[in-house]
Amino acid sequence: MEISIREWRINDKAALAENLNNLNVLNNLRDGLPYPYTEQDAEEFIRAMLSSDKNNTFAFAITLDDKVIGSIGVFRQDNIHFHTAEMGYYIGEAYWGNGYATSAIKQVCRYVFEHTDIIRIFAEPFSHNIASCRALH
Ligand SMILES: CC(C)(COP(=O)(O)OP(=O)(O)OC[C@H]1O[C@@H](n2cnc3c(N)ncnc32)[C@H](O)[C@@H]1OP(=O)(O)O)[C@@H](O)C(=O)NCCC(=O)NCCS
Repeated sequence: MEISIREWRINDKAALAENLNNLNVLNNLRDGLPYPYTEQDAEEFIRAMLSSDKNNTFAFAITLDDKVIGSIGVFRQDNIHFHTAEMGYYIGEAYWGNGYATSAIKQVCRYVFEHTDIIRIFAEPFSHNIASCRALH
């Protein structure tokens, strides 16, 4: 089955928290995310994404049959780097190894390059995060 990307909904919070409340996921992301990661944390994240500046933040739920299995976002950089954006993403551990991250990355990059003036998207996986490095090929 193919994954889709769509805007976040508040009632995605339980699925989001289920995916992110996992150190195998969190330890590969930036520092600063809480653990345990609760539904309250998830709701705050979704509300922040929904109220963010639509010209600078492009945040999507990754869904499989409309169930949220991950998250992907592209965030415009500041000042003279405003044509550049950083991408972050994760897939819930139960869904790893099915090509879902690779597909989500392609879909989001296509969306951003077609709909915005961003010309460069980068991600910064740890060098030991082979799956993430390969998903960016
Ligand atoms: C990294 C992550 C997003 C990959 O998601 P995924 O849906 O499993 O990735 P894909 O199935 O699209 O696989 C991507 C590539 O990695 C390879 N791969 C998948 N799991 C792997 C593993 N455990 N070890 C080595 N390679 C792996 C796949 O074969 C594929 O490479 P290929 O296209 O050359 O065959 C997922 O593991 C994850 O969310 N990890 C925790 C959070 C994270 O690391 N986020 C990214 C931060 S930069």
